[in-house]
Amino acid sequence: MTNRVYNFGAGPAMLPTPVMQKIQQEFLDYQGLGASIVELSHRLPLFKEILDTSESLFRELTGLPDNYKVMFMHGGAQMQFSAVPLNLMSRKSHKGSYFITGRWGTLAEQEARRYGSTEVLMDGKEFEYRKIPYFDISSLDQNTSYVHMTTNNTLYGTRWHEFPDTKDVPLVADSTSDILSREIDYSRFGVVYAGLQKNLGPSGTALVLVREDLLGKALPETPKLLDYSLIAESQSILNTINVFGVYVTRLVLEWVKEQGGIPEMEKLAEQKSGILYEVLDNSDFYISVAHPDHRSTVNVTFHLEHDQALQKFLSESEGEGLFALKGHAAVGGVRASIYNAMPIDAVKQLADFMKEFERTNG
Ligand SMILES: Cc1ncc(COP(=O)(O)O)c(C=O)c1O
Repeated sequence: MTNRVYNFGAGPAMLPTPVMQKIQQEFLDYQGLGASIVELSHRLPLFKEILDTSESLFRELTGLPDNYKVMFMHGGAQMQFSAVPLNLMSRKSHKGSYFITGRWGTLAEQEARRYGSTEVLMDGKEFEYRKIPYFDISSLDQNTSYVHMTTNNTLYGTRWHEFPDTKDVPLVADSTSDILSREIDYSRFGVVYAGLQKNLGPSGTALVLVREDLLGKALPETPKLLDYSLIAESQSILNTINVFGVYVTRLVLEWVKEQGGIPEMEKLAEQKSGILYEVLDNSDFYISVAHPDHRSTVNVTFHLEHDQALQKFLSESEGEGLFALKGHAAVGGVRASIYNAMPIDAVKQLADFMKEFERTNG
C-alpha cells in the first residue's frame, strides 16, 4: 500500500495497515462467496460467526467477566450519552452524577438532563481541563442512579490513571479513546462504552459492555434501539447492524491478539507517549497541555507560543507525511493521537521532527 501517511488524527483514526490490506483483499469476494461483506445479510450464519468471534476475542483479550453483555449499538459514542440515562436513571433517585473532565463529559451531562436530574461531582474547567481534579469519593450520594466518567480525555490529552470506587453505585465509563490501549478491570464498572473509530474500527457504532443486573430497567420512553435489554436479547441484531463495522472490528481484534494483546498495546502506548513527553519536558519551546500527573498515553497535546509557528509546524509536519496533527478547535495547538495502530517508528519520526523544528525555529 503506497502513499499511506502517518495519520495522527484523533478519529476516525488510523487502522493497522495489515487490517486495511485484508479488507482490500477480500472486499469484492468475501471467502469465495462472490459477494462483498457489505452485500451480505446480517442474518446469515457467516455474519453471526463474525459477531460471535468478535465478542469472544474481546472477552479473551480483556478478561471481561461473564456477567457482562457485549453489544454493538448504532450512533457512536454520543448516542450512549442518551442511552446511559435512559437505561440507568430508573434506579434509585432518578439522578445521574457526572465527573466532568473535558468536553465529552460536559456533553454527556447535558444530554442526561433531558431524562432526569443530574449532578456534577467535579468539573476541571477551572484548570482548563489540564488535570483531573480531586474528588472525595466517600462523599458520593449512594442513592444516585449512576456515576459517569470519561476515562481518557481525547481533546486535552489527560486520563484517569485510577478509577474511583463508587461502591454500590454503577460506574459508567466513556472509554472511546483508550479502549484496548490499557488493561482495565472491567468488574469495577456497570457500563463501559466506546465509539469504534479510534482503536476498534469505523465510526458510527459503539461497543457497549453492560453488567447483567443493570438490564431490564429502561425508562418507558426509551427508543427500542437504545434499550440495553432489547439489544442484548437480540444479540445486537434488533435491526440491520453495521455489518462492515463489526467485520473490521473483528480484524482489529485479531491483529491486537497477534501483536501480543493488551499488555503489549499498553506497553507500546507508554513507550510511544514517553518519547513525545520527553521532547516536551526538555523543551522551552513547546508548552505541554496536560498536567504531568494526568497525562494520556494515547493523545499527546501541546501548544506553540505563536500562531505563526503553529501554522508552520502543521504545514511542515504534513509535508513530512505526519498528518492531522492539528489540535481540536476547543484546545488549539497540536495533538498527536497515537492509538494502537500508530507504529513506534512514526512517533520517533515525529519526535525528531519536533526537535529539529525547535532547533530551527526556537
Ligand atoms: C471520549 C470520547 N467520547 C465521545 C466521542 C464522540 O464520539 P462519536 O462521534 O462517536 O459520538 C469522542 C470522539 O470521538 C471521544 O473521544
